[in-house]
Amino acid sequence: MGYAERFSLEGRIGLVTGAASGLGLSISQVLAEAGAHVVLTDVDGAALERARAAVKESGGSAEAHVLDVSDRGALRAAADEVAARHGSLDIMVANAGITAGPGYLTDAGQINAVDDTQWDRVLGINLTGVFASIQAAAKHMKRQRSGRILAVASVAGLKSEVMCGYAYTATKAAVVNLVRQAAMELAPYDVMVNGIAPGPFRTNIAGGRIRQPEVEAQFASMVPLGRIADPEEIKGLALLLSSHASSFITGVTIPIDGGIMAK
Ligand SMILES: NC(=O)c1ccc[n+]([C@@H]2O[C@H](COP(=O)([O-])OP(=O)(O)OC[C@H]3O[C@@H](n4cnc5c(N)ncnc54)[C@H](O)[C@@H]3O)[C@@H](O)[C@H]2O)c1
Repeated sequence: MGYAERFSLEGRIGLVTGAASGLGLSISQVLAEAGAHVVLTDVDGAALERARAAVKESGGSAEAHVLDVSDRGALRAAADEVAARHGSLDIMVANAGITAGPGYLTDAGQINAVDDTQWDRVLGINLTGVFASIQAAAKHMKRQRSGRILAVASVAGLKSEVMCGYAYTATKAAVVNLVRQAAMELAPYDVMVNGIAPGPFRTNIAGGRIRQPEVEAQFASMVPLGRIADPEEIKGLALLLSSHASSFITGVTIPIDGGIMAK
């Protein structure tokens, strides 16, 4: 097998949550560039339509469905519908996630300021949404006896993180163990389950706060490479974990963090 075949996704069907922006959009783009048909899903219909058009304009095969990952029934129905219509569901990228506000250095981020409603909302999207995405995909991948599941965690799930709120660090840590647990159950079916743990990327998370010069500088100062990342830089790892090139990798969450986890 040559390197191009090793990384090819020709004929595969992929579903990406939170695909309208940032990392989800970049991952959708690379899956399509490698030959997959990509089902972009997101809660933001207008941005989703722009994302679908962008993937198609660069020659990719794509469709778009409005989907809120905190609605477990809708998530399962979407996976079932995609698998029925296309004949398989080969790649699931559980990417959708939201901020839980600032970390404990600001008053609003301290433990006694954590708001119950916000805690529940972050858990519903960042944890239950990821679990439901893995669950919805597993049903089809077990039957197919093949598949790739990627969950987007964070370096904030691998260690404490001064810049992130409690619910964010807790849900991202939970995703890391969800990945291990599902990887064990699904290994006999040749379904690989892995996580991606990004450091700071220049996306629209938290209303694009990370792109404000002073916030970007604060994040950059924590990164050994001395900068935050462009969303494009997620593409290599996402393609690796979606393709045959990672045929012996399962149950791990790989940091993509400019060196943060090595400090
Ligand atoms: N940007 C970073 O620095 C960074 C670092 C570590 C981890 N992450 C993770 O990467 C993932 C993607 O975030 P991003 O940085 O690209 O942010 P982003 O805000 O640019 O994109 C997130 C997308 O998810 C969508 N979304 C939000 N709630 C949703 C829901 N309930 N259902 C479906 N879609 C929903 C948004 O509409 C948006 O299009 C998240 O899980 C985030 O926690 C980001």
